[in-house]
Amino acid sequence: MKYERKFYKCNICGHVTEETVRAGGPLACCNHPMELLKVNTVDASQEKHVPAVKIENGKLKVQVGSVEHPMTPEHHIAFIVVAEKNKTTRIDLDVHSKPEAEFELPEGGVTVYEYCNLHGLWAVDFEK
Ligand SMILES: [Fe+2]
Repeated sequence: MKYERKFYKCNICGHVTEETVRAGGPLACCNHPMELLKVNTVDASQEKHVPAVKIENGKLKVQVGSVEHPMTPEHHIAFIVVAEKNKTTRIDLDVHSKPEAEFELPEGGVTVYEYCNLHGLWAVDFEK
């Protein structure tokens, strides 16, 4: 991915966190190390998870995915992140909303991430 961000998950309680400043120590939760999430590695539908990104009405529009992902309390997209060189923007989704979000148009290329509570972290690079 062009603009890498690191997300970690606690496999005991399900907490997910983003690393902002790397200082060397391990991230832990529930007295166990958290797992670094690897993008696009869970065996699940690519079409429902890889973010579909386009420019629409002067905004960056992200939908998950090219085939709409379910949004239920049991299975949903929790957040969408747009990562630029020195800027990270996250929109948290409501489980009863659509799996999509609009962002300010970036200066250049971006990496777009999304997190599915069942199927993990997915990402795609996008160039204007
Ligand atoms: Fe999913």
